[in-house]
Amino acid sequence: MNAIESRFLPDLISSCRPGHTLPAAFYTSPEIFELDLEVFFRRHWIVAGVTADIPEPGDVRMVEIGRASVLLLRDDDEEVRAFHNVCRHRGARLVTEARSSVGRLVCPYHQWSYDLNGDLVHAPHMGRQMDKSCHGLKPVNLRCIGGLIFICLSEDAPSDIDEVAALLEARLAPFDLDTAKVAFEQTILEEGNWKLSVDNNRECYHCEGSHPELTRTLVGLDIGFDPEELNDEERAGYADHCAAAEAQVAAWERRGFVSHRLERYAGHATMLRSERFVITGPGEAHTMDGAAACRVLLGGLTDRKLGDLHLHTHNSWHHFFADHAVISYLTPLSPTRTELRTVWLVNRAAREGADYDLERLTEVWLATNRQDADLVALAQQGVASVGYEPGPLSAFCETLVEQNIAWYVERLRRHGYGQ
Ligand code: FES
Ligand code: FE
Repeated sequence: MNAIESRFLPDLISSCRPGHTLPAAFYTSPEIFELDLEVFFRRHWIVAGVTADIPEPGDVRMVEIGRASVLLLRDDDEEVRAFHNVCRHRGARLVTEARSSVGRLVCPYHQWSYDLNGDLVHAPHMGRQMDKSCHGLKPVNLRCIGGLIFICLSEDAPSDIDEVAALLEARLAPFDLDTAKVAFEQTILEEGNWKLSVDNNRECYHCEGSHPELTRTLVGLDIGFDPEELNDEERAGYADHCAAAEAQVAAWERRGFVSHRLERYAGHATMLRSERFVITGPGEAHTMDGAAACRVLLGGLTDRKLGDLHLHTHNSWHHFFADHAVISYLTPLSPTRTELRTVWLVNRAAREGADYDLERLTEVWLATNRQDADLVALAQQGVASVGYEPGPLSAFCETLVEQNIAWYVERLRRHGYGQ
């Protein structure tokens, strides 16, 4: 933050009205963007990939978050590790490819070599007395939870990750995503501030108007509604659906599939929400007809009808079905640009063309991502315009946006910004 912005930040935070979108500066200011990177992408746990990205020993994936470049790799013991992508000699970037497979990490500058544990094993012409053990790669805080890779770039990482891990492991264990494979991945740029991308994901108010593919498997009223706008027939029909959904959730829970709603917003360092939704038709997946897209189910699952186990954090959102998972997470690039990566996971044994058709597997979320990117760009154009002022959120359809914003503001205050 520069001096001027930091002087005004407490006032700006105080001007945030509950139940409303944020003042424009939160979506446009370079100084607040830097603050967001510091608070939300360095001092909090973020989703940075999936363990299936690096299935074999020596596999390396480079991820860039703000000014940090991080190597996610699998060592010779098949453990996932995370290191800063910075040579301990004169700081050169060790790896420049987004993905690679190596025996050792060799710096291209003066060929210092590190093993996959991050230990410096070779440093030519540095003298025998050099203590190599003091110059290993700097580790990055890492937790692999149910196939998701969480990292925290701060040495002082929030300690609630243990609690989060226990909650998520219970939900994700049946899918055994550590043994899944990446069937397809997509990286797109959204022309908007990262908070607009997240807010857009936290509501389905826009779904009916924008997502013809996704809404094929959604129960319309599940996305929220004003009860006064329903007629008696609609009200009775929805009551029946809710009773059936409640019974289905209870049945899943009895069989060990944790499905009940879990919410951690303001008051928690690590934001989390998860719930298993009943979806329409065959009830198996977000495909055009609601049926599973892959014949081989994830993990050792035998029942295709497990609905949509939904999960989101402050930089990610996910849908886990019996046959595949759709993992999305974002990285802010600038105040007005955000990178969104989406990965489709299937059982490692599934064969493309025989057990699944790639188009059928991906068509709903490829279309939805494209539509959402357009909406985020529209929102960014609007909030950057002189006519913008924070607008009211629907108490029926946008409660999660409100929770999301409340968590954001609370975290800023917790970190000493604002009263
Ligand atoms: Fe890496 Fe010199 S900077 S070996
Ligand atoms: Fe959407």
